[in-house]
Amino acid sequence: MNEMKCSYCNNEAIEEAYGKAYCKKHFNNYFLGRVRSIIDKFKINGKIAVALSGGKDSSACFYALHNLKLELVPFYINLGIKNYSDICQEKAEELCQQLGYELNVIYLADYGIELEKYKKPCSTCGTAKRYLMNKFAYENGCKYIATGHNLSDIVTFAMSNFISGNILNFRGNKPYLQGKEEYKLVAKIKPLFWLKDKECMLYTWINELAYAEEECPYSINAPTIKIKEWLNMLEAEQEGALMNMAKSLWKLEEKMEKDVKLNLCSNCGYVSYGKICKFCKIRKK
Ligand code: AMP
Ligand code: FES
Ligand code: ZN
Ligand code: ZN
Repeated sequence: MNEMKCSYCNNEAIEEAYGKAYCKKHFNNYFLGRVRSIIDKFKINGKIAVALSGGKDSSACFYALHNLKLELVPFYINLGIKNYSDICQEKAEELCQQLGYELNVIYLADYGIELEKYKKPCSTCGTAKRYLMNKFAYENGCKYIATGHNLSDIVTFAMSNFISGNILNFRGNKPYLQGKEEYKLVAKIKPLFWLKDKECMLYTWINELAYAEEECPYSINAPTIKIKEWLNMLEAEQEGALMNMAKSLWKLEEKMEKDVKLNLCSNCGYVSYGKICKFCKIRKK
């Protein structure tokens, strides 16, 4: 069998995407180009707090932003999950060493929260992560928070809301969410918005970035795993389906955007929908 050649040079191709073949070097260029398109479109410039989970996506996101020579402050939230959180922290630390940064670590336990005591640990965890990411970025004078959500995650998450009848509940289906200084709300970016799961995996591998393979024990039977598999099958049959769905979601999000009334939490002083923010509520439980 003939080896497949890169569409841009004479080297052997390692990946095909949207009708083009890529060698290692040109795959890196392709990947970075997709990330750069978001950075340029939203004129991202200034300090970025990079949320590292220890997993492949945030490692890929961090490395791409590092290659684009942006000003980065990496941080990790240790959620105190046994046999998981410490392993992920080690990987995030290893990655920071590889790239020459110091990792900032936030411990959920410092806020008196033990996830295992909650009935729905994933939802408590989600609230806590969102809150602590924003607080960290705000306190460290960052203009943005970058997360490693990729194209497959975004479409999967929207689809799971769609399937459960909550299409209007979901937010964040666009690569940039504006901040609001008066509410101590830092802007969010998703640099991997146009990149699929397997592309992020490949980018992490070929650049030999440290990442943890462990999955969160609370997510093992998550319904989203099946939805992602199903979407991957669709993408394999009809390349571009995921990207087109994300484009539709983005358009929908712009139409749905309305002025949500925000407050400052009367307990902690950070952004909140009600009088007291969700994070302060879970701390009281
Ligand atoms: P997840 O919600 O686990 O799908 O993660 C989505 C993104 O949130 C990751 O790509 C990271 O950027 C960020 N993130 C998840 N967990 C953590 C964590 N423990 N510490 C910091 N950032 C995180
Ligand atoms: Fe939050 Fe699993 S990472 S519950
Ligand atoms: Zn090439
Ligand atoms: Zn609060």
